[in-house]
Amino acid sequence: MNLGLQKRVAIVAASSQGIGRATAHAFAAEGCRIAMCARGANTLQQAADEIRQKHGTEVYAEPFDVTDHAAVQSFVEATVSKFGSADICVTNAGGPPAKGFLATSSEDWQKAIDLNLLSTVYFAHAVIPHMQKKRWGRIVTITSITTKQPVADLVLSNAVRAGVVGLVKSLANEFGKDNILVNNIGPGFTATARLIELAASRSTALNKKQSEIFEGWAADAPLKRLGQPEEVADAIVWLASDRASYITGQTLLVDGGMYKGL
Ligand SMILES: NC(=O)c1ccc[n+]([C@@H]2O[C@H](COP(=O)([O-])OP(=O)(O)OC[C@H]3O[C@@H](n4cnc5c(N)ncnc54)[C@H](OP(=O)(O)O)[C@@H]3O)[C@@H](O)[C@H]2O)c1
Repeated sequence: MNLGLQKRVAIVAASSQGIGRATAHAFAAEGCRIAMCARGANTLQQAADEIRQKHGTEVYAEPFDVTDHAAVQSFVEATVSKFGSADICVTNAGGPPAKGFLATSSEDWQKAIDLNLLSTVYFAHAVIPHMQKKRWGRIVTITSITTKQPVADLVLSNAVRAGVVGLVKSLANEFGKDNILVNNIGPGFTATARLIELAASRSTALNKKQSEIFEGWAADAPLKRLGQPEEVADAIVWLASDRASYITGQTLLVDGGMYKGL
């Protein structure tokens, strides 16, 4: 299947490891030029070098925090002046900490809003005018299965990510006329550093071994295993491609069937 992504410019936020890094690799494998970021400069540089070597594509990498509005804006402007456009934008960040509701502070809520909702707003604000000029654009937000089904002790994610879904649907409605398609990807339990962090806090809370936590998550999905970051990445690339040209405003779960609803 020709995805039609050759020479497109793909911005992938928070991409020095995990799902973001796998997504940057997957776009590079399709012939896209890549703009990537994360806070830690060394890990980001390593990830960027690996992509250049493996796929022979141009990569622009800049270390910054996606909660910094000015930094997001200047990263997008620098990407456009380097590559000529910002065709695809995958928004991503770390996840909020696992806590029960009464253990959360107002600071936790503000941080989760900054990290998971406002960072998406900042990227959308920065890229949409460029996409409008080209009359072609794809925004894919990375959220979580929590957008469909709350997960225990992830009240911050359960609540704040719903705002991203509202944003996605609103942007899809407003900018469809400009041929800008906006969709959301909700990963289920996926084998990354984030999942090890969640397993550690769940194992303390439940007084169980981490291996039991992982086994429980795998058992909860009809496919009886965790997801791999590359499996989420492939779904994102397809959604951003010419092969998904009549799909907008949707949430696609990549969760091995874990979501229990119809
Ligand atoms: N893995 C799962 O099972 C799962 C399931 C559902 C949803 N999700 C969500 O999917 C997203 C990605 O998860 P992941 O598993 O790939 O996480 P991960 O392996 O921990 O990777 C997170 C990436 O984001 C970067 N990052 C974190 N905070 C950032 C910030 N403020 N500014 C810029 N970059 C930042 C990290 O680099 P630096 O630390 O150097 O900045 C790293 O490159 C998260 O929102 C997570 O909650 C994950």
